[in-house]
Amino acid sequence: MTNKEQTSVLITGGNKGLGLEAARRLGALGWTVFLGSRDEGRGREAAAKLAAEGSAVVMVPLDVTSDESVAGAVRLVREHTDCLDVLINNAGAPGRGTPPAQATAEEIHAVYDTNVYGPIRVTNAFLPLLQAAENPRVVMVSSAVGAFSVVTDPRQAASQFHELAYTSSKTALNMVTLRYAQALPDIKFNLATPGEVANRKFAATDMNNHTGELTVTEGTDSIVRLATLGPDGPTGLFVDRLGPIAW
Ligand SMILES: NC(=O)c1ccc[n+]([C@@H]2O[C@H](COP(=O)([O-])OP(=O)(O)OC[C@H]3O[C@@H](n4cnc5c(N)ncnc54)[C@H](OP(=O)(O)O)[C@@H]3O)[C@@H](O)[C@H]2O)c1
Repeated sequence: MTNKEQTSVLITGGNKGLGLEAARRLGALGWTVFLGSRDEGRGREAAAKLAAEGSAVVMVPLDVTSDESVAGAVRLVREHTDCLDVLINNAGAPGRGTPPAQATAEEIHAVYDTNVYGPIRVTNAFLPLLQAAENPRVVMVSSAVGAFSVVTDPRQAASQFHELAYTSSKTALNMVTLRYAQALPDIKFNLATPGEVANRKFAATDMNNHTGELTVTEGTDSIVRLATLGPDGPTGLFVDRLGPIAW
């Protein structure tokens, strides 16, 4: 059983990309890392790598689109700890990049199921464990392309990219997070985008076929900063690597 002195974090989509890097960095701080992965094999492989580097890591089978899977994740985490300090809702689906006129409700639903309903499902299921922690923090991994300020800026590539599902799902996630922050002031709810909005940079991962200019370490700076906020830290913020960004 994890004691209250040892900080604990659950990361969804922790098996690769930014989730895995956040897991590596927080594990290196001595935290207990619950590494969520919808695929057990990929999750075990990722967890074994972190354990070999000395991290305290527990692989948690977790598909954020399944109530049953999320309930199983709560049961497993409860076997190890009676409180959860930090939840990082990182798992994300890019969709197929379909423009509005060709988009189908089915595609939009699938992307929202992971990017919007997933964080709600996971957050609500873990609320009792979060509320048992002294300084609970929830980090929502959003995207710059969910910001009106970015998609209406002609200098940003997203303004020319007529995609519907992913961008609007991250906008929804931003509002969802703000509503949680207002409703539950004892828990910090903040949003991170992995890039640098002003410099139009994002992090190289499978999601963008490694076209990003930032490393995963740089990409996780905003996530790690929000995960490590002290008791006096803010809630309801949207930040990138360089600081707060416009909605
Ligand atoms: N890279 C960037 O610069 C950038 C910019 C803006 C926002 N983001 C956001 O950052 C987050 C991480 O993305 P990434 O760049 O690290 O991409 P990635 O390497 O493709 O990782 C995505 C992760 O999400 C997991 N996932 C997808 N659907 C899931 C589900 N239903 N249940 C559980 N896990 C699921 C994937 O698992 P599998 O391995 O099983 O597919 C994978 O672990 C996403 O929310 C993304 O939208 C990234």
